[in-house]
Amino acid sequence: MRSVPLVLGVLASGRGSNLQAILDAIEAGRCPARVAVVVSDRKDALALDRARRAGASAVHLDPKAYPDRVAFDEAVAEVLDQYATELVCLAGYMRVLTIEFVRRFPGRILNVHPALLPAFPGLHAQRQALEHGVKVTGATVHFVDDGVDTGPIVLQSAVPVRDDDTEETLAARILVEEHRLYPEAIRLYAEGRLRIEGRRVSGRGEGPGRPGDPGREAT
Ligand code: GRF
Repeated sequence: MRSVPLVLGVLASGRGSNLQAILDAIEAGRCPARVAVVVSDRKDALALDRARRAGASAVHLDPKAYPDRVAFDEAVAEVLDQYATELVCLAGYMRVLTIEFVRRFPGRILNVHPALLPAFPGLHAQRQALEHGVKVTGATVHFVDDGVDTGPIVLQSAVPVRDDDTEETLAARILVEEHRLYPEAIRLYAEGRLRIEGRRVSGRGEGPGRPGDPGREAT
């Protein structure tokens, strides 16, 4: 077990409810980590307010101020390095990372996605699930690789689709699972339990989780 909390750098573009779930889990002693900095590509992101309120640094970087995506991502990486970030957490970050950025943090970037990957990657995952007519969708926390939502899967949780679901009602029920899974995945990472072997991530079963916890059963 680590004696010092894992240093997190969170990238977020919007309301930051996943960031808040991480902050709350840390506060409650359920996640041995510390959010050092939140970086956003949007000045008005609620996530930045949440960071400030929790005593973390909040940094806005304007993509328009950089010549290209590589230069912007380089600036983001420099901020993360300034804060000695050990794990980068994407939490509603609406930009696709450059390969250069991903390679700078190998096996050190997590993302949360509102579907059971590899189904429905990319934008509007809940709408994709409704349009496809699946009966079950869910939430996924995964490592980030060079693709969009393609990296090795850490935790998943299933959410049934109801006949009367709208994109909003489905998104709300999936979000509950996202908020539960993300801090749990960070805890597993912080405790050094996760091993990536090819596409498979092992180690999630060894923690003090509740039996019957769907996050532990859905694979
Ligand atoms: C979440 O549904 C997340 O899975 C997706 O974007 C949404 C962000 O929500 N990538 P929030 O900003 O964390 O509230």
